[in-house]
Amino acid sequence: MAQQRSVHDHVLGGIYTVIKTKAPVTCAEYGDRYTLMGPLSYKSAPMEVEAIDWEKPTPLNEDGTPTTTSVANAALVGTLSSMRDRGVKFLYGRWLIEGGPKVLLFDTGSVWNRLDEWKTDLWNLAGIPTPANDTETNETVLLGYLVAWFLGEFSARERSRAIVAHLHEWQAGLAIPLCRKRHIDVTTVFTTHATLLGRYLCAGSVDFYNNLAYFDVDHEAGKRGIYHRYCIERSAAHCADVFTTVSHITAYEAEHLLKRKPDGVTPNGLNVTKFSAMHEFQNLHAVSKQKINDFIRGHFYGHYDFDLDNTLYFFTAGRYEYRNKGLDMYIESLARLNHRLQQSGTKQTVVAFIISPAATHSYTIEALKGQAVTKQLRDTVTEIQNRIGARLFERTARYNGEHGTEVPDPAELLSTEDKILLKRRVFALRRNSLPPVVTHNMADDANDPILNQVRRVQLFNRSSDRVKIIFHPEFLNANNPILGLDYEEFVRGCHLGVFPSYYEPWGYTPAECTVMGVPSITTNLSGFGGFMEDLLEDSQDYGIYIVDRRMKSVEDSVNQLTDQMLSFCQKTRRQRINQRNRTERLSDLLDWKRMGLEYAKARQLALRRAYPDAFEDDDFDFESGQVRLPRPLSAPASPRFTTGVVTPGEFATLTEEMQGLGTSDYMGAQQTWESLIRG
Ligand code: UDP
Ligand code: G6P
Repeated sequence: MAQQRSVHDHVLGGIYTVIKTKAPVTCAEYGDRYTLMGPLSYKSAPMEVEAIDWEKPTPLNEDGTPTTTSVANAALVGTLSSMRDRGVKFLYGRWLIEGGPKVLLFDTGSVWNRLDEWKTDLWNLAGIPTPANDTETNETVLLGYLVAWFLGEFSARERSRAIVAHLHEWQAGLAIPLCRKRHIDVTTVFTTHATLLGRYLCAGSVDFYNNLAYFDVDHEAGKRGIYHRYCIERSAAHCADVFTTVSHITAYEAEHLLKRKPDGVTPNGLNVTKFSAMHEFQNLHAVSKQKINDFIRGHFYGHYDFDLDNTLYFFTAGRYEYRNKGLDMYIESLARLNHRLQQSGTKQTVVAFIISPAATHSYTIEALKGQAVTKQLRDTVTEIQNRIGARLFERTARYNGEHGTEVPDPAELLSTEDKILLKRRVFALRRNSLPPVVTHNMADDANDPILNQVRRVQLFNRSSDRVKIIFHPEFLNANNPILGLDYEEFVRGCHLGVFPSYYEPWGYTPAECTVMGVPSITTNLSGFGGFMEDLLEDSQDYGIYIVDRRMKSVEDSVNQLTDQMLSFCQKTRRQRINQRNRTERLSDLLDWKRMGLEYAKARQLALRRAYPDAFEDDDFDFESGQVRLPRPLSAPASPRFTTGVVTPGEFATLTEEMQGLGTSDYMGAQQTWESLIRG
């Protein structure tokens, strides 16, 4: 049986969180046989990586024979020396994160002189064109050739053990076709976390999901100037031994846009312990909510006529992709919610935040002033409070000739000066304008899609509005002068996260809400939403609301979202507390300890495909656990699974294929996407 020993995960770009949070479970499985590869950044590497003296000889067995470690090390030393001697610069060391995995970071600049040669080779080898002025593609070529070079030399030296190379995204995927063409003895896994073309197409105004099967992919990629990038992504997907994506919806997308059906789904996990607050999370909610309350008092100064104890905080957060992130649907539904709440005559208020970075020229004077005048008022009140306390003490402590029960008249305690000061502060709270929707000066206010829609639906933070809107076009930071909270703190203080995405391969924001015990709304077009829908019966009970954006018209989806938000508003405080408890109990479902199993399966499948002979007379049984995998956590007690599944990938093919059931549908027991969408 081919032994699974060395794994080379190769990372680049925006999936940094996935790779970094996943590292501890992979380290737990492989220990020092796990190495991550990527490009070297001289700026950040010194802070994050501790260099290893790789040339230092490793100890031998007592009889002088080499140990397994020293053999592996000899292969590594041989490869790295050879590359170094030919001008390649790199940093080999330990990544200073939990698990301390080894990392090999290549300085792509050191091989810049080879770019043209490699580009020509790529054209001759795979027919992939690479224009001169696309820096990202140039970096991709350099990195791809370096990784393939390393794998080629290393695998030639390490003959006793199999090598699995798991590469993520097109920016890191180029080594895969190179390994295949050069017959390098490694087995490969390629994971896409979205498709290039999918993201582009969705951001436009196409009916993406209904037309997925009919796009002329080459033409569409060409039209958007990404044909060469698309070719790299597609060739990596086709040449990999195993191809996976992060969700079923993205698997469906990849099948049509990259023309290879993924072998399975490797969903994104979280490092739950990082968020875990045990029984504290309810308290943390209350504490963080107070901080948001402070911000609200300032922001609404002069119009603060609602009861914060009867106010709910909703929010959406993420990159500013107006349509993909469902910001359009969020605002429209908020307008309808406003109307419904007004009609019901309730005094309840909803403050809906939008945290999404856009081009700005810093905070508005008005937003800063709001916080300043309320702070002054608070300081003044504290001063007066102290003075009243001093007077009260003085009056009661002083012996006035007889021992009595006389208590000073409260009206006398507030001096004329105090009253004047207080009046001045209250005057400062007067304002002619409505509380602003946006906290910053927008670089292009007139054409901003969020602001334009807010104008269209007229959610202007009027006194009569039961739904108020605050658009904070910058990610949160505790050091910000207004809304000075870290994102995590802010989420904890809110009541509901709303993420009605149209294009969302996974979606960390609702997953993060879940582990912090904050209910959320997503859609069945998002990876997370689909994952939860598959896993839970009555997901709403767990604070996981899912809008149907597949089968319903936009109008119906908007109404469904409005209904969900309204029904959330109708909950009592006790019901909200109970629901938060249930939400938080889902955390273990999202932990890497569970999600990481799909990665282990993908690697197993890659080994079986590359070395079938090694498995033939071996009664390898994935289920019996012959292969050492981190043990799955026992299924949490509370959720009732729809299908009694144990791991997320039971919906995928990875297990089935290994059990010899042949290729099956990654939709598992679900209806196929085609039938769902076409109805
Ligand atoms: N986020 C953040 N600060 C903020 C708002 C969001 O760091 O003020 C992070 C959030 O924690 C999440 C990420 O942004 O991890 C968004 O990830 P998601 O998967 O939801 O969307 P993507 O950006 O991948 O499309
Ligand atoms: C937490 C706290 C409670 C508080 C509640 C407010 O559960 O432990 O003391 O009353 O939050 O919940 P709410 O949904 O009204 O913000």
